[in-house]
Amino acid sequence: MPEICPVDRLQERADREVLLRGWVRTTRRKGKIGFLVLRDGTGDVQCVAVRSEVGDALFDLLDRVPQESSVEVEGTVRVDARAPGGVEVGLRALRVLHEAEPYPITPKEHGPEFLMEHRHLWVRSSLQHALLRVRAEVVAAAQEWLNGEGFIRYDTPILTPCACEGTSDLFETKYFDLGSAFLTQSGQLYVESGMMAFGKVYCFGPTFRSEKSKTRRHLTEFWMIEPEVAFAGFEDNLALQERYFSGIVRRVLERRRADLAALGRDLAALERVTPPFPRLPYDDAVAMVNAAAASGKEEGLTPLSWGEDLGAPHEVFLSRQFDRPVFVTRYPAKVKAFYMQPDPARPEVALCADLLAPGYGEIIGGSERIHDRALLERRLAEHGLPAEAFRWYVDLRRYGSVPHSGFGMGIERAVAWIAGATHLRETIPFARTLYKIYP
Ligand code: 4AD
Ligand code: MG
Repeated sequence: MPEICPVDRLQERADREVLLRGWVRTTRRKGKIGFLVLRDGTGDVQCVAVRSEVGDALFDLLDRVPQESSVEVEGTVRVDARAPGGVEVGLRALRVLHEAEPYPITPKEHGPEFLMEHRHLWVRSSLQHALLRVRAEVVAAAQEWLNGEGFIRYDTPILTPCACEGTSDLFETKYFDLGSAFLTQSGQLYVESGMMAFGKVYCFGPTFRSEKSKTRRHLTEFWMIEPEVAFAGFEDNLALQERYFSGIVRRVLERRRADLAALGRDLAALERVTPPFPRLPYDDAVAMVNAAAASGKEEGLTPLSWGEDLGAPHEVFLSRQFDRPVFVTRYPAKVKAFYMQPDPARPEVALCADLLAPGYGEIIGGSERIHDRALLERRLAEHGLPAEAFRWYVDLRRYGSVPHSGFGMGIERAVAWIAGATHLRETIPFARTLYKIYP
């Protein structure tokens, strides 16, 4: 038998015999010529059979082998500029390994409900496939970029005794005789212990929010990567984020350009993602929103009063005013988490920033952290958080406390913007939302 060749390496095997293994995307016959499009996970390739060459039995099989059957094909690689991917295979032998039952997802249009119900199969479709390859690239780039900068991956627990990002959206579970445990909303608090041990660390894992949110930007389970750096202030944090996100986008452009193009992404918008990113103070953001809302030109944009958090429409509007991601900085401390360092010049605002991607909204949230023990204890009390559960976190401010900063990037949000996906649920193999836990 010839050597097995993945579809994405066929170019290198011009005129050679190969063995392909995969699944049948489509078959069709036209007179004495038959076609089988095979997908193997690395790509699709058209295999062409001529009746007079392969014989009637094999040729007739092309009419009977159902969509998504698993098959082996033997044939000769023909480089042909007109073929998609630049190659096709002259089919000589076809073996059906498993004949598929009638496949529910057909080339005709299906609604999103139906597709989500068949998510376990939908991931085989070419656009979903492209999107998930972009995701895999973002996940790899997000870690490797940090590894290259000397960060240590520091894994944080998923079952925790305390809340990181507020108590309203915690998933609670019974934990033996120890009472309740919560699924983590963020690894940040724990990663701060690693920062004091290693200097530059990140955690990366699933995080959970029992948000009763029905928007296209919220999942109840999502993946977050959270770098944390000792001796880093607010500005250092922004500089790190803009280099980081630009590096990730550049790598996806280099390695997944074809997938981005298949998804119809405007590549020029991605090419523009280079530092520096504009900084927009929250105060100015409120003024911009209010001017636009008063003009009546922005449908659905409601005015803001100082102290309110930005909503999704505000973020979309603001981010559209810039040609690359923009940092909205120094939000009112009271709308942000308890651990954020107040601006010494203006304690009513926090040394924090959200990074908004153009036309999309928040993909990164970060801040300088409180490093003074007394202030942290005050904030815990003000937020009504139980001192006992946070004792270890406060401890980090007892033994060589230093200014430090970090941020969290939601993988699905980053993928959604980079790939131009409208709905977060397609950026992860199995989305968990308010209404969906199957499959
Ligand atoms: O802004 P958030 O809540 O920040 C934190 O959790 C910090 N502890 C991060 C840190 O400083 N280490 O969440 C960070 C990011 C958001 O910018 C967003 O991309 C994503 O996580 N995110 C969600 N993604 C999907 N579904 C949700 N429900 C999300 N909530 C936050
Ligand atoms: Mg946030």
